[in-house]
Amino acid sequence: MNNKFFNEPDFNSVQTLDELQSKLELFKFKNGWAKPTPSLYPEPKKIFLPAHWRFKHAHSALHTAGKLVSTEKAERRNLILANPIEGNDYQTVSTLVGAYQMVLPGEIAKSHKHSPNAMRIIIQGDPSAFTVVDGKSIPMLDGDVLLTPNGSYHGHINNSNVEAYWIDILDVPLVQYLGPMFFQTHQDSFEKNIELDLNSEMRFAYSVFSQNVLNGSNVITGVRKLELGPQQLVTFDRYVIHMLSNITWVNEKTTFNQLFVVIKGSGSTQVENYNFEWSVGDFIAIPSWYKFTHLSNEESILIRVTDDPLLKLLNFDKFH
Ligand SMILES: [Fe+2]
Repeated sequence: MNNKFFNEPDFNSVQTLDELQSKLELFKFKNGWAKPTPSLYPEPKKIFLPAHWRFKHAHSALHTAGKLVSTEKAERRNLILANPIEGNDYQTVSTLVGAYQMVLPGEIAKSHKHSPNAMRIIIQGDPSAFTVVDGKSIPMLDGDVLLTPNGSYHGHINNSNVEAYWIDILDVPLVQYLGPMFFQTHQDSFEKNIELDLNSEMRFAYSVFSQNVLNGSNVITGVRKLELGPQQLVTFDRYVIHMLSNITWVNEKTTFNQLFVVIKGSGSTQVENYNFEWSVGDFIAIPSWYKFTHLSNEESILIRVTDDPLLKLLNFDKFH
């Protein structure tokens, strides 16, 4: 047994600060008066970088991956949108991860469930491509948004004759940080006894929300937003953003992270020294505490995903 910790601390004989500090280490103390990095600071740190991923690159990479990686071997054939900060191979922003995924014609992606929540934004879908959530088969059409709340079994099946592409957004980084990660594959590999559900509350159809957003709340002249609900995820939410052509929309910095997926149109986003030229299927990550400006080249629709609900839940939204 190591008796070191059972010895009486001999701090009485200490004469100098250096001596005290070296002795503190013996008892697993860290001094709080001379930390190399402060624990508290005046405003949020910008740890993550603004970033942009192009669908045309993801499409090309996943098309090739379709010849080399099977969903028999890989749980998912996807490309993770890891924030380009040093040493990071996963998180897109602090709480969320985004990924492009592709399922080949005739292919399935096995059913599983997990404690993280998930959302999908369909870039290239088909009426015969489905996400199956707890036995309900939900079609994935271009621009649709689908939810998979935590704990629900979900898998994908592509009965069409085209490759199906979408973006997944999950709160995995948050769950990894907090600890309660659980993951389980389905006993049948892919769920059996599937029922078609065209009106699932987990699906937000582009054909519906692209019209409804025109009557959404006015953000500035030329920009409207519509919250997709009522079905919610606890940790992150989603808005449809509609921009008329040639609109400049300045967004002040916020404490929540914002991810944008382009569903229609084209434009650019300026944030610090970056200028991201975007088009349909692209993904833009704006980590917290960056001011940014969206500019539309033409009428555009974006899905905005944020972890704002989480900050509200924790009562952190009162700080700006
Ligand atoms: Fe999953």
